[in-house]
Amino acid sequence: MSSRFLCGKNIIKKFGDTEVLHGINVDIKEGAFTVVMGSSGSGKSTLLYLLSGMDKPSSGEIFYQETKISGAAEKELTHLRASQFGFVFQRTHLIGNLTVSENIKMAGLIGGLSEKECELRTAELIQKMSLEKVEAHLPSEVSGGEAQRTAVARAVINRPALIFADEPTGALNRANSTEVLNLLTMLNKNGQTVLLVTHDRESALRGNRILYLDDGRMTGELSLSDYDGRDAEREEKLTGWLEGLGW
Ligand SMILES: Nc1ncnc2c1ncn2[C@@H]1O[C@H](COP(=O)(O)OP(=O)(O)O)[C@@H](O)[C@H]1O
Ligand SMILES: [Mg+2]
Repeated sequence: MSSRFLCGKNIIKKFGDTEVLHGINVDIKEGAFTVVMGSSGSGKSTLLYLLSGMDKPSSGEIFYQETKISGAAEKELTHLRASQFGFVFQRTHLIGNLTVSENIKMAGLIGGLSEKECELRTAELIQKMSLEKVEAHLPSEVSGGEAQRTAVARAVINRPALIFADEPTGALNRANSTEVLNLLTMLNKNGQTVLLVTHDRESALRGNRILYLDDGRMTGELSLSDYDGRDAEREEKLTGWLEGLGW
């Protein structure tokens, strides 16, 4: 394991004259399930876009292993995102005229897998994500939970080292949220690093390291034991910590 996995040093982000991130230092550990928690508008999505190379900081540096993300060319970033990173957002951004299985497979083709490998992995993911009944359906013909499970499958077909999730349960009901969180937990237990940003306590509870973002500043950090079903002690710890932060 390399000592540096994903880290940001003194990240400042301005939109016009408005500074929304005020000098963030963050170090995401390989294999961890890290959660950045903060209220709406605190800068969570902005931070996630910067860490994943989708946007550039106004100043500061971001490294992913040996790659300086903050200074990399777009071509290198595109390759990195396709081969090493997986993304799950609140909105699924599935392609409307492709079926569930085609949406998953397409991501593998873009990631450079062979046709055959894509088909194998898609079939495996359809099973793992319990999408058998809807694999031939269009996104408009599936439930919100199925659509998000499709999005998770699409995010992981290239077996990314790192999964970025931005409010992945924000548009789901309780049962579907739990399922999507279970999938992320399972992927993490299988060795994938997860970075999830959220304002949702249920989501935050899945992390083993919770960082608190308050108005563009990191103001808190909490370590929890690994999630293992619903355990009261972790929940109590998170609640106490959040109360202390004025949540
Ligand atoms: N592209 C943008 N242009 C201008 N302001 C933006 C842009 N993206 C985000 N912001 C502002 O940055 C702040 C943080 O936004 P965001 O990162 O989306 O917060 P969160 O994800 O925590 O809700 C907000 O005040 C938001 O209005
Ligand atoms: Mg957001």
